[in-house]
Amino acid sequence: MTRAENSNGYPLTMAKERIVAQSAQERTSAPTAQSREADLDPQTLEIRPRTLRDYIGQRELVERLSIALEAAKLRKEAMEHVLLHGPPGLGKTTIAHVIAAEMGSRAYVTSGPALTKAGDLVGTLTKMEAHDVLFIDEIHRLPAAVEEYIYPAMEDRRIDFTLDSGMHARVVTIELKPFTLIGATTRAGLLTQALRSRFGISHHLEFYGHDDLVRILVRAAAILSVRAIDNDAFDAIAARSRGTPRIALRLLRRVRDFADVRAQGRADSDAVMAALRLEGIDDIGLDDLDRKYMRAVADIYGGGPVGLEAISATLAEDAGTIEDLVEPYLLQIGFLARTRQGRRLTKQGAESIGFELPAAATPPDQLF
Ligand code: ADE
Repeated sequence: MTRAENSNGYPLTMAKERIVAQSAQERTSAPTAQSREADLDPQTLEIRPRTLRDYIGQRELVERLSIALEAAKLRKEAMEHVLLHGPPGLGKTTIAHVIAAEMGSRAYVTSGPALTKAGDLVGTLTKMEAHDVLFIDEIHRLPAAVEEYIYPAMEDRRIDFTLDSGMHARVVTIELKPFTLIGATTRAGLLTQALRSRFGISHHLEFYGHDDLVRILVRAAAILSVRAIDNDAFDAIAARSRGTPRIALRLLRRVRDFADVRAQGRADSDAVMAALRLEGIDDIGLDDLDRKYMRAVADIYGGGPVGLEAISATLAEDAGTIEDLVEPYLLQIGFLARTRQGRRLTKQGAESIGFELPAAATPPDQLF
């Protein structure tokens, strides 16, 4: 579908879409202590696609999921366990909600670090009905003692819980209803092989292309009632979103604020450009931290190669934050290379900050 068709045709489908979104929301906002849904404002929930048909981008994943969902529904089984990996902001949580909505069930949302004891996991699993979804974000941070309980839960829908200790120890087996575990991680490499191998579907989420980001923005702008926004504005926002819907939607909200306060609610091109300038984001979506990162590799380490820990110490920024939030996009756009010796600015990356890379070291046989 072209963009013109999309923006022209969009308002016609809105009324129906709102109703679907609301009814799905009622079903999925399960009253769990750990659900983060309650923290999100209703518009955020509404912007999220509720069905696979509404989901834009990640086509390969959408196709794999739609087959698995249909097969599960045909056989009246729970959907396969799914592991989603990739940079933050690409829609891992959204997919968990879509799967639950497609199954007509609830999504329970928690995270690896929140599940400190086996009892936390058992408490949630025993509350769940057949075909419900348990979403565990940052699953690589699940404590080992909790991870052990996940294996039989995933494979045999059962948990063996030990009560008391020593002479009085008893093992109680708790039968679970068939459920789907959706694990999300930005660091698939940190998952144990034992856990990774228990997911029937494992998928790496890719950064979104420009056209998909524009389609997401067009859809969201209609839901958020952003007025007088045109194709150039959508292009400008998408170009600054680093392939990430979460960033695109955040920028759209800032544009809407700016338009409401400074431009009588009209998000025309001038208002959009002014709002984006205020965000400190350059034409290709790089922000202060990206620029500081590249400057440090250039000015202090001569363009690299340099190790992550050294860059992290120089910037006084957590290495995990750098690895998850800064590097993936710089690698994707070819500004950075990761070699065995460390991180290195590419020619393109160096040029973008006006840095001249030193000439490649002369091989010893050419020194004489
Ligand atoms: N909003 C955020 N991500 C989206 C996606 N992938 N499709 C549709 N709407 C979205």
